[in-house]
Amino acid sequence: MYDLRSDTFTKPTEAMRKAMYSAEVGDDVYGEDPTVERLQRMAEEITGKERSLVVSSGCMGNLIPLMIKGGKGMEVLTSGYSHIVNHEIGAVSSLGGTLPVIIPSDHGIMKADEIAKHIHGYAYDMSESAIIETENTTSGIVYPIDDLRSIRKLADSNNLWVHMDGARIFNASVETGISVREYADTASDITFCLSKGLGCPAFSVLSGDKDFIEKAKRLRKLLGGGMRQIGILAAAGIYALENNVARLRDDHEHRAAISEALARTGWADIEISATNMIFFRSDRDMDSIVAAFRRKGVLFLKEGDMGRIVLSLNISDEDTREIVRIIESMDPKEFV
Ligand SMILES: Cc1ncc(COP(=O)(O)O)c(C=O)c1O
Repeated sequence: MYDLRSDTFTKPTEAMRKAMYSAEVGDDVYGEDPTVERLQRMAEEITGKERSLVVSSGCMGNLIPLMIKGGKGMEVLTSGYSHIVNHEIGAVSSLGGTLPVIIPSDHGIMKADEIAKHIHGYAYDMSESAIIETENTTSGIVYPIDDLRSIRKLADSNNLWVHMDGARIFNASVETGISVREYADTASDITFCLSKGLGCPAFSVLSGDKDFIEKAKRLRKLLGGGMRQIGILAAAGIYALENNVARLRDDHEHRAAISEALARTGWADIEISATNMIFFRSDRDMDSIVAAFRRKGVLFLKEGDMGRIVLSLNISDEDTREIVRIIESMDPKEFV
């Protein structure tokens, strides 16, 4: 099976498992796990932020900042495509108490002047804007750095916090050559995932200033995310940051080859093809398309009415050639 469902399906490689096996560990709730400490220092180097904290998941990395800077009566300004709005069971409001305000966007890319129209200052009868949330990449699309800089400027002049969901920030950085630190500079805090294209079994890292990370540590405990000898998992993160970042370029090349093959078929209409993701529409029934590919050993998902393909280290150059061959040889009569 060629698994194109998500980059979360990656499995730790032999070398990553060896790094995990030999990790030095301690009780991280007491701040005594040297491997976790090392991973956090690496994240600070990479993002340029004062402090970092390992969190159990991307969802937790999003929720904690929204809880610190949002809360009852407060708003987070975000796009209607964002993960916090669509895929986190409404935690932003159900657990965080914060109202998400949807800013019109182009596939998740918001413009500062559009955001400006939706900022609410204090009024006795209105919720108040507290946070702008950017997601980079968003549905695989890299946020243009100029837009991010304009958003940060707008936030600073309105005393708003900027949280960046950088689940796939390394994909953005590898694609554009713009460093993660430059992207992180456009946000007050940033979280990135180790458990997606970087190939780790778990974890995200949240980075921000000292005061913010101290508060984050308490909230992580409150949410049940204080874990003990997690250096075993942090070692996978260190391995990934040292070995699996540059290779994300391969995933982007594989995505381009597969997207070009789909575009040539006549039955697939590409909506988004960027970094490691493809979203496509079809005038054929998408469930049937997904089922036909599954019969040929290619797994991908239907999201809304679109097909969604995600490349990761699950897929080699040779696999990509075979997937392209399967796409080219697919008979649309199979879509029944
Ligand atoms: C953009 C984005 N943010 C956050 C998350 C949440 O990550 P996790 O599944 O680790 O909670 C995901 C997961 O796919 C994501 O795609």
